[in-house]
Amino acid sequence: LPAPDATRLGADLIRPLLPDLALAAHKGKRGDVRVIGGAAGMTGAALLAGRAAALLGAGKVFVCLLDTRAPAVDMQAPELMLRPADALLEAIGDKTCLLVGPGAGLDEASRACLARALASTAPLVLDADALNLLAANDHASTLQAALRQRRAITVLTPHPLEAARLLESTVQAVEMDRLRAARDLAARFACWVVLKGRGTVIASPEQNVWINATGNGLLATAGSGDVLAGSVAALIAATGQASAVLAAVWLHGQAAERYAAKLGPSGMTAAHLPKWMALSWADLM
Ligand code: APR
Ligand code: MG
Repeated sequence: LPAPDATRLGADLIRPLLPDLALAAHKGKRGDVRVIGGAAGMTGAALLAGRAAALLGAGKVFVCLLDTRAPAVDMQAPELMLRPADALLEAIGDKTCLLVGPGAGLDEASRACLARALASTAPLVLDADALNLLAANDHASTLQAALRQRRAITVLTPHPLEAARLLESTVQAVEMDRLRAARDLAARFACWVVLKGRGTVIASPEQNVWINATGNGLLATAGSGDVLAGSVAALIAATGQASAVLAAVWLHGQAAERYAAKLGPSGMTAAHLPKWMALSWADLM
């Protein structure tokens, strides 16, 4: 059967998917995010995701770090609550989205966190090393079974190499037919998939597909994927809808375009992105 065409993301499609943060009378109503990641040497990845979640409107953001020597506070973002990784499910609210993977590493502690997150009933975003653990670990088949059994919203955000590992395929094959690769992953794991890269493809478990045309080479910088993952988690927490991933992807690309139009082709790092995403959000209102 010929695959039906992907829907192209645009402002009119995105606008109604965004939460009305001004209506939230209390921070408990906005939805919380818990990031789990940041092993030694990679704490920045988890912090970037956490900062993005906070700037995109999460009520409370916990960053549960695998590095046992991690700092107790992010001095550039003191609103983040830094915790040890094993606190990932501690006193979790019923409007919390989990994000596992940024800088998580592949060791046993990371795997144990992923297994606990998969078994939880909270919405869950899996990025970076969470995807690598699902693909390559000795326990991969157990983790994959747990992933398929989830009932809550689940989103995978692979770049092409991470997608290739999960599909037991190659980057070339993934890039040859990105729609198919995203659909295959969504079907295999019964979840939402964001296949990143220029022309990001989003696939739903029902096999609907969208394609995003926003973004530019400013995003080809370390940590921009971590920012996307944190943004996805914040918007799912706020809306309770998996379709919020569409808004996160579009805003992420739009932010880079807005930056380039205003300030040119250099000077933006991943840490700047969330602010420009917020400005792009404001442009939609
Ligand atoms: N046009 C549009 N979007 C782009 C472009 C471009 N030219 N280049 C990059 N992007 C976007 C991607 O779509 C994605 O949203 O930037 C983001 C990059 O995300 P990642 O590939 O995950 O990059 P990063 O977060 O830096 O991750 C690098 O972390 O995921 C692990 O092991 C992985 O080594 C990798 C590292
Ligand atoms: Mg990444």
